[in-house]
Amino acid sequence: MPFKIKKLKNKTRALPLIQRMQPPRRRRKIPLPLLLLLLFAVLPAAGANRDFPCKPPHFNSFPFCNTSLSIADRVRSLISLLTLQEKIKQLSNTAAAVPRLGLPLYEWWSESLHGVAGNGPGVRFNGSISTATVFPQVILSAASFNRTLWRALARAIAIEARAMYNADQAGLTFWAPNINIFRDPRWGRGQETPGEDPMVASVYAVDYVSAFQSQSGWNPNESLFIRGSSRRILGEGGDRGLLMMSACCKHYTAYDLEKWGNFTRYTFDAQVSDQDMEDTFQPPFRSCIKEGGASCLMCSYNQVNGVPSCAHGDLLTEIREQWGFEGYVTSDCDAVAIIFEDQKYASSPEDAVADVLKAGMDINCGKYLLNHTESAVKLGKVKEEDIDRALFNLFSVLFRLKLFDGNPAKQQYGELGAGNVCTKEHRQLAFEAARQGVVLLKNEGGRLPLRRSNVASMALIGPAGNRTEVLGGGYSGVSCDPKTLLDGLRDYVPSTAFAAGCANTSCVTANGLKEAVRVAGAAEVVVVVAGLNLTEETEDHDRVSLLLPGKQEELVHAVASASKKPLVLVLMGGGPLDVSFAKEDSRIAAIIWIGYPGEVGGQVLAEALFGDFNPGGRLPVTWYPESFTTVPMNDMNMRANPSGGYPGRTYRFYTGRIVYEYGYGLSYSSYAYKFLSAPSKISLANSSFSEALIDREPASEGHGEVDYLRIDETTPCEDLQFTVKISVANNGEMEGSHAILLFSRSDKSIRGSPKRQLVGFDRVFTAANGVSVIDMLVDPCKHMSSANEKGKLILVLGAHMLMLGDTEHELLICS
Ligand SMILES: *[C@@H]1O[C@H](CO)[C@@H](O)[C@H](O)[C@H]1NC(C)=O
Ligand SMILES: *[C@@H]1O[C@H](CO)[C@@H](O)[C@H](O)[C@H]1NC(C)=O
Ligand SMILES: *[C@@H]1O[C@H](CO)[C@@H](O)[C@H](O)[C@H]1NC(C)=O
Ligand SMILES: *[C@@H]1O[C@H](CO)[C@@H](O)[C@H](O)[C@H]1NC(C)=O
Ligand SMILES: *[C@@H]1O[C@H](CO)[C@@H](O)[C@H](O)[C@H]1NC(C)=O
Ligand SMILES: *[C@@H]1O[C@H](CO)[C@@H](O)[C@H](O)[C@H]1NC(C)=O
Ligand SMILES: *[C@@H]1O[C@H](CO)[C@@H](O)[C@H](O)[C@H]1NC(C)=O
Ligand SMILES: *[C@@H]1O[C@H](CO)[C@@H](O)[C@H](O)[C@H]1NC(C)=O
Ligand SMILES: *[C@@H]1O[C@H](CO)[C@@H](O)[C@H](O)[C@H]1NC(C)=O
Ligand SMILES: *[C@@H]1O[C@H](CO)[C@@H](O)[C@H](O)[C@H]1NC(C)=O
Repeated sequence: MPFKIKKLKNKTRALPLIQRMQPPRRRRKIPLPLLLLLLFAVLPAAGANRDFPCKPPHFNSFPFCNTSLSIADRVRSLISLLTLQEKIKQLSNTAAAVPRLGLPLYEWWSESLHGVAGNGPGVRFNGSISTATVFPQVILSAASFNRTLWRALARAIAIEARAMYNADQAGLTFWAPNINIFRDPRWGRGQETPGEDPMVASVYAVDYVSAFQSQSGWNPNESLFIRGSSRRILGEGGDRGLLMMSACCKHYTAYDLEKWGNFTRYTFDAQVSDQDMEDTFQPPFRSCIKEGGASCLMCSYNQVNGVPSCAHGDLLTEIREQWGFEGYVTSDCDAVAIIFEDQKYASSPEDAVADVLKAGMDINCGKYLLNHTESAVKLGKVKEEDIDRALFNLFSVLFRLKLFDGNPAKQQYGELGAGNVCTKEHRQLAFEAARQGVVLLKNEGGRLPLRRSNVASMALIGPAGNRTEVLGGGYSGVSCDPKTLLDGLRDYVPSTAFAAGCANTSCVTANGLKEAVRVAGAAEVVVVVAGLNLTEETEDHDRVSLLLPGKQEELVHAVASASKKPLVLVLMGGGPLDVSFAKEDSRIAAIIWIGYPGEVGGQVLAEALFGDFNPGGRLPVTWYPESFTTVPMNDMNMRANPSGGYPGRTYRFYTGRIVYEYGYGLSYSSYAYKFLSAPSKISLANSSFSEALIDREPASEGHGEVDYLRIDETTPCEDLQFTVKISVANNGEMEGSHAILLFSRSDKSIRGSPKRQLVGFDRVFTAANGVSVIDMLVDPCKHMSSANEKGKLILVLGAHMLMLGDTEHELLICS
């Protein structure tokens, strides 16, 4: 989701609705005296006097305001009081006020991907709160592989979001996280996601959603706060289902193409096999709902196997019936209009409206339902009950947010305000996230870390070096106090010289090349910052090349030749880059990836280069070579098809050459791993399993058969879990925390078995020359399984290999 409306303004695609939906927001300069006046006079009052439902003395006597009743009864009572026209006006992201019942307008669309963001109309940075912490873009925080960090980030964002709500500058319903799989390296929005691995995306989803939503406080040691599977949430009136904020799992599903070749996300029909659906595209959404307890799901623009996601009855039924979803389903913005206008799937606007309401969508981001629902009812295509069902799901969430329980300012979290935004603690957390995510890709001859006392002169080269707008990536808000990479380096070496080399990251002409060469030639330490910006990868825009944009590579070469000593190459951006040239070039001593590091990125880069911390992040996505761009982006298959020359996707299936592999990352120390204890055999006979769960099919190599355990609700999965005890020795002089990734592969395989897959991860601190010991819980059903061609999850029996770096441990799973 959703459009940056401003950006689309001059585009001429066939979607005028989107441009009209929200006027582009202009930044107005408010004179300082007026601003102060606003701050002290108008704004606090605006928040405090804000309208809310059930406001005494006139509007608190409706039965839907009676907090002794269950939420379900209150919601039904409210719906029973609405006329058809009033009901229809609730089906848009800007839900209309109903003055006679005391309901103010409610804006459903706010954004909070990596900090409160201004992309939706719900968030406004024009009141007493004019900035919010811009944490690193998700792909960088993901590289930390630290669940405690992910939960802390989501909680900090929730607090800033709630503070903005209290100041009347945001809603309570936020449309994050983006948990689609980073399937293709060109995807413009891969940066917004936790990467290509479904297990990591699932865990990230659970952490973000549960920490963001929790009403009853937050225990950083726990991952699960609200479990969504219970049918009891709305019935009991207890506080199980209550929410501090509402998060949204998006975009459901198989959405990961913006605009590539002749394909656009608005009309793309993703052809997905049952096998890929089951073990790649659905797991993050299943976890987000079942374990994360998400209260919102967003259906995507694209079609899935010929049916628009928002009209996909099977997919939208599954979430409620199998996963216990009790939230609301919103469309991506204008995703209903396109079903008729662009996809021609429906033969009239009314049919489009009927298709989505009957499939289970509850609210439309956009105005299409406002315009066409009444006529759809008149034509008998939509029943009032369909609308009532949507309203039930919508209002239930607002009730769970306690929006109908009286003055929000007097409730729990009602005291949060400007003083809780851009706090020292949140800035510290932004530092932590960026530090933990940084990935060291090359460090020849121990070029890094630099020693401050040894650096007499330093130069920073590159178009992003002196710019703050490149730090946050997509869905950034207004930062509290951003510092450029140059500012960061100058904190260490005040005389650091700078040359941009190109006007911007597109680097169409390297007209600053001569100057860059001159500046670099005069310095003892040269740092070049290269890579991407939103001009290369963003919403509605995929890349066509994995190489550095424009003349950037030329710039790096020229500077490398001029530099007295091998230089340090800093890479920015979310998507993988083919920097094979730099990997092999001895004039480039070190390469470090900083993603979009957020507002403290400048300082964190300097800290990394000077060794104030030890880099320990790992790539959450495979870095493919440029030759991958011959693979059609619209081919959704995860599995390789060697006979058709198709190499497959992601570390689980990709068979081609790589630049840097998934999970790659160095540090200033060297670590060695040992399996201290792990089972060598797991016997199903010990568990309460039934023989009927064992099945077999031909082995992929074409000889013999493979026995496997079918995984369904009856499989005794808990009995199969085991713990692996691992020791981590730091054989270096520098302490460090780093990510540990445990993979497994099985000896035998059926068609489409992954080459290997992640079964556990953690982040561990180890003192210099010290040893740490950690436990990892492995759930074979969940993590060592994969889908067969029928789309059923299975666990192959026989020998499996657990892998930790170069260390392996054999484990037999037998019946
Ligand atoms: C609220 O509901 C409870 C339970 O049905 C009822 O006893 C009570 O009278 C109601 N309160 C008001 C003010 O209507
Ligand atoms: C902030 O912007 C919103 C939407 O544009 C507007 O309705 C509101 O009046 C503005 N508030 C202030 C204090 O300028
Ligand atoms: C979380 O765990 C740590 C270490 O086990 C402990 O010191 C801390 O008190 C725990 N925090 C909470 C809120 O339970
Ligand atoms: C796009 O469509 C045109 C016209 O149908 C076709 O010639 C071209 O090959 C297509 N390009 C791609 C990348 O599919
Ligand atoms: C809704 O209808 C109004 C009035 O006919 C029109 O101006 C507007 O463009 C329509 N919007 C959508 C999203 O169809
Ligand atoms: C960096 O940018 C700022 C303003 O954006 C400018 O004032 C300053 O001169 C620039 N510094 C260098 C070294 O180019
Ligand atoms: C990048 O710089 C070029 C000039 O070299 C300019 O034409 C182009 O508009 C700039 N792009 C952006 C996004 O500012
Ligand atoms: C980054 O992208 C933004 C948005 O396209 C553009 O305004 C800005 O000039 C770019 N900055 C650089 C250094 O390329
Ligand atoms: C199976 O059960 C036996 C007896 O309770 C026990 O000794 C053995 O360790 C168990 N094996 C596994 C793999 O759990
Ligand atoms: C994980 O993140 C938390 C929160 O930032 C941090 O306190 C902790 O030290 C990190 N763990 C490791 C091993 O780095």
